[in-house]
Amino acid sequence: MRSYLFVPGDSERKLEKSLTSGADCLLIDLEDSVARSQKGVARERAAEFIRRQRAESKGGPGLIVRVNPLSSGQTDEDLAAVMASRPDGVLLPKSESGVDVQHLSVMMAVREAEAGIGEGDTDIHALVTETAAGTLNAASYAGASPRLRTLSWGAEDLSADLGVETNRDGAGNYTDLFRYARTVTLLGAAAAGISAVDTVFVDFRDQKGLEDECTAAVRDGFTGKMAIHPNQVEPINRIFTPTATAIAWAKKIVDLFAEAGEDAGVLSLDGKMIDRPHLKQAERLLDRARSVGLA
Ligand code: COA
Ligand code: MG
Repeated sequence: MRSYLFVPGDSERKLEKSLTSGADCLLIDLEDSVARSQKGVARERAAEFIRRQRAESKGGPGLIVRVNPLSSGQTDEDLAAVMASRPDGVLLPKSESGVDVQHLSVMMAVREAEAGIGEGDTDIHALVTETAAGTLNAASYAGASPRLRTLSWGAEDLSADLGVETNRDGAGNYTDLFRYARTVTLLGAAAAGISAVDTVFVDFRDQKGLEDECTAAVRDGFTGKMAIHPNQVEPINRIFTPTATAIAWAKKIVDLFAEAGEDAGVLSLDGKMIDRPHLKQAERLLDRARSVGLA
C-alpha cells in the first residue's frame, strides 16, 4: 500500500470524493478531524460508508478506521459502531507502546465475535510517535500482535505534547526531535517485521515539497505515505511505485542467485559486488512491485 488518504468520517461529501482519489487505502477518521459533537454522526456515517462499499465494490481502496485513542475512553464506542461493517483495519492514534496494541486487539476480538467475523481478520495500524512516551517506546512493537501491519508517525500531536514552537527549521526541514521520531518509526517497524508509513505533509498546495518528502521517504525505507488531500494521492502513488529500471535490476539479482543455487555467496553483476543483503533488498522491492500489479 502506497497512499493512505485521511477522510473526516462525518463528511459525506469527502467520503464520496475519496472513492475517486485513487488512494490505495482510506483512513476514515473518527478522531482529530471530527468535532466532539460530531463523533456519533461520524461513527454512523463511517459504518454506513464501509457497509455500502462492501456491498458494491470489488477491488476498491482498503478501508481503515481511525478510532479515538485509548486515553479518550471512546475507543470501544467507536469499535462497537464500525466493526460489524467489516473494515480492513483499525488505525490506533497516540499509541504509547506494544501493550496498547494488545489492548486494542482484545477489544477488537470482542466486537469481531459479536459480528461473526473471524478473530484477527481485522488488521491494526499504529501511530506511534504522537506523544513523548510513545516515541520513546517505538521499539516495543515486535511481537505485540499478529494483526499489526504498519507503524506510522505523527509530528503535529508530538509538537503539541512537547510544547515546541515549530517542528521545521528555517529551511523547511524537520528539527532533530522530529527526525528522531521519524527514525525510530523506521527502526521500530523493521524490528517488528512490518512496514513503516510516512506521516502527512500538511501543506497540501505545495506539490514540490510533497514530492521531495516522498522521495526521501522511499530512500529511507518507508513503503507508503499518509495524505490529507486527494491532490496528494497521485504524487504519492507515483513516487512509491518501484520504477521499471529498479524492477529489472531486482529481477536480475533474484535470477542471479537462483542460477547460483543454494550455496551462493558473493556474486557480481554489471561490475558491482552483489551479496545476500542485495538479494533481500531485491525481494522486498519485487514484493512492493507485485502488490501494485507490477513484476
Ligand atoms: N478526502 C476527500 N475529499 C477531500 C479531502 C479528503 N481528505 N480533502 C478535500 N477534499 C475535497 C473537498 O471536499 C473538495 O471537494 P468539492 O469541491 O467537491 O467540495 C475538493 O476535495 C477540493 O478541496 P479543497 O477546497 O482544495 O480543500 P478544502 O479547503 O475543502 O479542505 C482540508 C482542506 C485540509 C480541510 C481537507 O483536505 C481535509 O479535510 N483533509 C483531511 C483532514 C484530516 O482528516 N485530518 C486528520 C489527519 S491529519
Ligand atoms: Mg492527531
